[in-house]
Amino acid sequence: MNRLQLFPITTTIEKNSLTIAGHDLAGLAKDHGTPLYIYDRETMDTAVIGYKSALALHYPMTGSVTYAGKAFLNLAIAQWTQLHNLFVDCTGEGEIAMAVAGGVPREHILVHGVNKSEADLESAVKYAGTIVVDNLTELQRIANLFPIPHSPFPDLWLRLVPGVAVETHHAHTQTGQHDSKFGMTSAEMMEAAQFCKMNNLPLNGIHFHQGSNFRDASPLKAAIELGLDLAMEIGFTNEWHFSPGGGWGVAYHEDELPQPDSNEYVRVIAENIVEGCKARGLALPHLHLEPGRSLVARAGVAVYKVGAIKRRGEKVWILTDGGMTDNPRYAMYGARYSCLTVSGPGEARSEKVSIAGPYCESGDVVIEDLLMPKIEVGELIAIPASGAYHLSMSSNYNGSRKPAVLWLEAGRARVIQRRETIEDLMRRDEGL
Ligand code: LLP
Repeated sequence: MNRLQLFPITTTIEKNSLTIAGHDLAGLAKDHGTPLYIYDRETMDTAVIGYKSALALHYPMTGSVTYAGKAFLNLAIAQWTQLHNLFVDCTGEGEIAMAVAGGVPREHILVHGVNKSEADLESAVKYAGTIVVDNLTELQRIANLFPIPHSPFPDLWLRLVPGVAVETHHAHTQTGQHDSKFGMTSAEMMEAAQFCKMNNLPLNGIHFHQGSNFRDASPLKAAIELGLDLAMEIGFTNEWHFSPGGGWGVAYHEDELPQPDSNEYVRVIAENIVEGCKARGLALPHLHLEPGRSLVARAGVAVYKVGAIKRRGEKVWILTDGGMTDNPRYAMYGARYSCLTVSGPGEARSEKVSIAGPYCESGDVVIEDLLMPKIEVGELIAIPASGAYHLSMSSNYNGSRKPAVLWLEAGRARVIQRRETIEDLMRRDEGL
């Protein structure tokens, strides 16, 4: 694939300059400064429509799409989810608060978390339609905190650890393997179901999530089979919910195949559920898909300015003003990225360079060994596939301030998150 295909679907080259949704990136960087993040609305809308059409095609009975807020959540993104009637997966009270502020109604808020605090649970019971219970202790805590009858009370689903992981690029993004810290074994699931029965808790669903950024959907089959076996054993009858999590992959580098089609992912899930339910005489569940990355990664672009260039033997370091504090994915997972210069993106690529940020860590690398055209100090570079798990995992290391975020539509660019200030950095501090 070519580098431009990694960028949002509205990206073009106009007058030798990178343009997204009709906005010249150089102009946006001039007006808003760098490092700068932009989100292209059309790319996000198109991704949602892709999932919804696939559901309508392969599972027309009853299904919905849940946006995994951990990929990137703020007020505007929460509001955007409701333009598409999405459910929102929130981890803990912080994300729940963002979803509520963005107008996400109770029935669309679904709460995850591997060790939910009492405050998380209180917020979940107050604002959410569903809690995905991770473990037995959590279930007991819920029963103690909110004796039934309690109004309102969310539905409860149980999180299964299926013992099968998917192929991701890094062990840290696998969650389905048998020794994972997430979810419950089959035996624990049955114990939890029994507990719910004894305590009149509204259990009506099963969830699992095997890992993130995978392209081969085949390991889902075994996990779905296990989930359906458990649904039978628990005795779900008519109205029940089944969520095989999220994790469908995206393309970060031109060496990879293009972003895989969500249709294929949904087809594999739907077919296995339909066949599996038929074989068992089990009622078809309400199917929940839970993508994060595949909805927002491609829509996001990071724009950095080059501040210095160093030559060290074979190595050429392009030093930029963004790096591991806005995108820790290289440092955490050795993630591979690509980029284009904002001006002259089509120029011949003549030199292999490595791109690194300004922070005091040798691991503060953005891209290693990428063929680029000649780059000058002061130039802007644009890094595609930056929309998921960058800003949501960002930090203030070295006193850095989180970048501004723009929302791009044709003819309109809005700041949806202002750049952090020095005052923001010290807002929580108290003197001695
Ligand atoms: N559902 C659950 C329960 C999850 O834990 C996750 C991601 C998702 C859905 C959405 O997965 P997605 O479709 O976005 O891949 N920081 C890592 C990814 C961690 C994913 C955590 N859970 C990265 O940057 O690759």
